[in-house]
Amino acid sequence: MSKIFITRKIDDAVIDELKKSFDVEVWDSEDEAVPRDVLLKQAKESHALLTMLSDQIDEELLSDAPHLKVVANMAVGYDNIDVEAAEKAGVIVTNTPDVLTDTTADLAFSLILATARRIPEAADYIKQGEWTSWSPYLLAGRDVHHKTLGIVGMGKIGQAVAKRAAGFDMNILYHTRSRKTEAEEQFGAQYKNLSDLLEKADFVLVLAPLTEETRGMIGAEQFKKMKDSAIFINVGRGPVVDEKSLVDALRNGDIAGAGLDVFEKEPISKEHPLLSMENVVAVPHIGSATTETRYIMMKLAADNIKAVLNGEKPLTRVTR
Ligand code: DGY
Repeated sequence: MSKIFITRKIDDAVIDELKKSFDVEVWDSEDEAVPRDVLLKQAKESHALLTMLSDQIDEELLSDAPHLKVVANMAVGYDNIDVEAAEKAGVIVTNTPDVLTDTTADLAFSLILATARRIPEAADYIKQGEWTSWSPYLLAGRDVHHKTLGIVGMGKIGQAVAKRAAGFDMNILYHTRSRKTEAEEQFGAQYKNLSDLLEKADFVLVLAPLTEETRGMIGAEQFKKMKDSAIFINVGRGPVVDEKSLVDALRNGDIAGAGLDVFEKEPISKEHPLLSMENVVAVPHIGSATTETRYIMMKLAADNIKAVLNGEKPLTRVTR
């Protein structure tokens, strides 16, 4: 019987379905990532791995996984997997695109609103009993409607954010590898080179995946180009941004605030300077975290494994 190792506790219904045909072992923790030595040992024995974005699937693991046929990542991003090494080892890699598009776009837009309108700060203020009277500029934020949104990385999630932004009468700019004519026609999005976008946007939203090309693409030079009233949002991957430059830009007033779902190192240390800044809204990589969407992601990852182990084509294979 083929063996599947699942690197985190997922929905029982999904596990039970797999157990009907396979030998399934689960790292039974919701909060703690599987330790590296356990992952390596399991990879050695398994035919399939159902992985999270916090699991590193690299050459070391793949070179000692003689039975491994498929790694099904429960995320749309797959920068935690060395896809080239997997291909060389004859291991199929799958991800969970599409099913999380709207949910992640909702989170991106929430961060835009929460940062601009200072929602966490205001919520804290009232809970701390600091509200003594209404006053004209009490916790005054910035408007979102009719402002300019610059989207860096216009994949499906970017286009779903553009749809939301159009409903807020925003002017939409985007920068990505290839023009998205549909978004241009439907939401009036305009393609810009990165410099132009950074100079013109009131909100800069990064959704780019992490690749060798995008690593560190937003650094000191890019923050200097942004308006000093700009709000920077990252829902893509932390290392696309040079975090030290982000901290400097916020400290020096080169930009006005930041809304962050992803970080250079996750989990971010609680001593990190970003977490003590009033103009930063930080959340712990929850882009796709709704119970509905996470269930669909688990199910899709499991279906990909089932397909490969049954000798069928996976539903959502990653190709380079
Ligand atoms: C993904 O799926 O890559 C997202 O970052 C998860 O929230």
